Amino acid sequence: MIKKILLPALVLLTAAFTAKEPQPLYKNKNAPVESRVQDLLRRMTLQEKVLQLSQSYAGNNNNENNKDENIKAIPDGIGSLIYFGSDPVFRNKIQKKAVESSRLGIPIIFGYDVIHGYRTLYPVAIAQACSFNTDLAARAAAVAAKESKLSGIDWTFSPMIDVARDPRWGRVMEGYGEDPYTNARFAVASVQGYQGNRLSDPYSIAACLKHYVGYGLSEGGRDYHYADVSPQSLWETYMPPYLAGVKAGAATIMSGFNDISGIPASANHYTLTEVLKNRWGFKGFVVSDWGSVEQLMNQGVAASRAEAGQKALMAGVDMDMTDRVYQENLAQLVTDKKVPLSRVDDAVKSILRIKFQLGLFEHPYTTVLPESERYLQPEGKAVAGQLAEESMVLLKNLNQTLPVKNTIKQIALIGPMANNREDITGSWSAQGRSKDAETIMEGLQYEFGSNTHFNYAKGADFDGTDESGFKEAVAAAQASDVIILCLGEKRAWTGENTSRSVIELPAIQEKLAETLKATGKPLVLVLNNGRPLGLAKLEPLADAIVEMWQPGLAGGTPLAGILSGRINPNGKLAITFPFTTGQIPIYYDMRQSARPNSGLYQDIPTTPLYWFGYGLSYTTYQYSNIKLSAPGITKNQKLIAEVEVSNTGNMAGKETVLWYITDPAASISRPLKELKYFEKKQIEAGKKSIYHFEIDPMRDLSFPDAGGHLHLEAGEFYLYAGSQKIKFSLK
Ligand code: GLC
Repeated sequence: MIKKILLPALVLLTAAFTAKEPQPLYKNKNAPVESRVQDLLRRMTLQEKVLQLSQSYAGNNNNENNKDENIKAIPDGIGSLIYFGSDPVFRNKIQKKAVESSRLGIPIIFGYDVIHGYRTLYPVAIAQACSFNTDLAARAAAVAAKESKLSGIDWTFSPMIDVARDPRWGRVMEGYGEDPYTNARFAVASVQGYQGNRLSDPYSIAACLKHYVGYGLSEGGRDYHYADVSPQSLWETYMPPYLAGVKAGAATIMSGFNDISGIPASANHYTLTEVLKNRWGFKGFVVSDWGSVEQLMNQGVAASRAEAGQKALMAGVDMDMTDRVYQENLAQLVTDKKVPLSRVDDAVKSILRIKFQLGLFEHPYTTVLPESERYLQPEGKAVAGQLAEESMVLLKNLNQTLPVKNTIKQIALIGPMANNREDITGSWSAQGRSKDAETIMEGLQYEFGSNTHFNYAKGADFDGTDESGFKEAVAAAQASDVIILCLGEKRAWTGENTSRSVIELPAIQEKLAETLKATGKPLVLVLNNGRPLGLAKLEPLADAIVEMWQPGLAGGTPLAGILSGRINPNGKLAITFPFTTGQIPIYYDMRQSARPNSGLYQDIPTTPLYWFGYGLSYTTYQYSNIKLSAPGITKNQKLIAEVEVSNTGNMAGKETVLWYITDPAASISRPLKELKYFEKKQIEAGKKSIYHFEIDPMRDLSFPDAGGHLHLEAGEFYLYAGSQKIKFSLK
C-alpha cells in the first residue's frame, strides 16, 4: 500500500525538484529585446551592474599609447574587454568563464581599434575620403568586420569622424578630412559596412562613432588639448557627422579626451545626454576614451576619482574604458546617494541592449577557422587595391611627365619610401602585418616588367642629417631617364599623440630632392603621408606629384598603374594642403573676410597649395549646361539640378562631381561655400555624363543656430559644380 502511494509521490516530488526552473525571460531569444533587458536588469546585483559598465583589456597591448599599462587580471563579470589578441580560441576561453561560470551568464563584448582594416589593411581614412567612393569604403568596412568577428571582436572603435583642419594634429589621418558632409557620408558608409543589415548577422560588428565631439579642434594641433568649440561651430561643423552616424544606426559612441570650451567631452551632459540621447534618441551606449574618465581630474573638473566617475556617469558616459573608476567607485556613490541607481540602470540597459542585439547571448563564442580562411581573402585584397587606387591624388603633372613614357627603360627609384614595407601601412594598423604589404618597388617591377630597369637608391632616411646616400642616389638618377622619388612620413608620425609643430617634411628629404633636381632629369615625387604636408619647397622641384597617402597592404600596384598610365588617377583632396604651416588653419568652407583682398600674409601666398576638392587626371573634363528644374522653389519644394560632364580627353576616367551651395546673405555669415553632395562616375573618353543633385531646402539650404536648431531663410543661393555656377531663389 505504502509503495503504491509513496513511490508515485516520491517520483512526482523528485520530478518537481529536478524540473529545470522555467528558462528566465532574458534567455529567451524570441522575447523582445527590451523585455529581455528589463528581466535581466532586475536580477542583477549592484556589483554586477557596476561591472557591466566597466571595460578592461586582454591580450598583448599593442596600442602604442597605452602599452605601459600592465595587463590586469580580468575581473569576473566584467562587461567588456579590449581584445589585443587575434586568437579566437583564447577569446572563447575568456568568454566561456563569463558565460558558464557566472551567476547570470552575461557575455563579454570584445572591442578593438579596427580603423582601416583588421589584417587586410586598407588606406588610412583620410586617403579613403579622397576616393569619394563611399560604396568602396563600406565594402572595406564589411571585410574588416568579417576578419574582426572571426578573431573574436564584436565591436570596433571606428569610424573616427572628427572634422580636422589642423594637420599638425596627427589624428587627421584617422578621419575623413576637413568637411562635415564628407565625414558624414563616410560615417554612414562605415556604420553600414561594419554593422551590416542586422547587428546579429554572423559577420556584423558594432560600430563606434568617435571621438564625440570636437576633438579635431585640439588647440594648436596638440593632441588631448583644450578645444575652444563655439556653439555655432559645434553645430555647423562638428556635430553633423555624428548625427548622420546616429541616424545610420551606429550602436555606440566614444566620448573624446578633449574638453568642449571648458567642459570635457567625457563629462558633458549637454552633448552626451541632452543632445545625443534626449534630442537625437540615441539608444546605444557611450563608452569613454581610454582613461578619459580619470583624466577629468587633469582637466580640473574632478577632485577625485570618485567625483570623476560621478560626473562622467551623470553626464552620460555609460561604460568606463580601462581606468577602473566606475568599477572602484560607483557602488559607493550609489550607496551615498551621489548617483541615483536609476542612472546606473539606464547605463546597464544601454549596454545589455547592444549585447542582445549583437546576439551575444545566443552566440557568445567565435567560430574558429584556420588563419588561412580568416584573413587576406581575395575579395578583401581586391577592395584594398581598388580603394588604394581611387584614393591616390595626382597633384601636379607638368608637360605630361606622367604617365612614364613606355620608351623609358631606365628608371631611378629613390627615397626612404621606395622599398619600404613598414611605413606604407600607416598608423592604427590593428593586426595588419608589414610582411603582407606590397612595396612601391614591388608594384613598379610587377607593372613595368623585366624590360624596364630600376636603379634603386634609398638616398636618405626620413629625417636626420646623413647625406652619405646622396651620391648613390645621384648616380642612380644619372643612369636613368626619369626619377621616381618616394618621400613621406614614418607611420609613427601620424595617429594618436603624434602632433608636429611643422607639416613640412624634414630638411634631409627636401635636400635630397634638391640634389636630384640638379641632375636635370624629370622628377616624379610620390608622397606617403598621413597628414597634409607643407610642400612649398618640394613642389617647384617636382615635374609631377602623386599623393599616395598610406595605402595599406595593396598600394604598390595601383601606384605603379598610375605611373605607367594603365590607371587614370581619380582621387580628389578631402583636406586642404596649406602652403606652409604658418597658414594653418585654412579650409575650403571658411567664411568671407570683411576685406577679401586685404589682410593677406605679407610673406607667403594667402591661398593654400591645394584646396579641398583638388585632383588632376590624365584626361580632361569639361563641365557645361548646369541647369535647374526651376529658377526658384518654396520651402517645401525640391529642386533638381543637373550638370553635364564631358570627357574631352583620350582616356576613360572616373570623375567626382562636388556640388557646393553658397548663401551669400543670411542672418548670420555663412561659409564661402559648403559641400552638399558628391557623386563619382566613370566616363569613357569622348563621352559625357549627366550628374544630378536633388536639393532639399531643409537639408541643403538651412543652417543651425548656436542651439542646433535649423533655420531656413528665403533668399538667393548659388549652386556650383566644377566651373559651373547658377543662381536660384528660395521663397
Ligand atoms: C585611444 C584612442 C581611441 C581608441 C582607444 C582604445 O587612446 O584615443 O581612439 O579607440 O584608446 O584603444
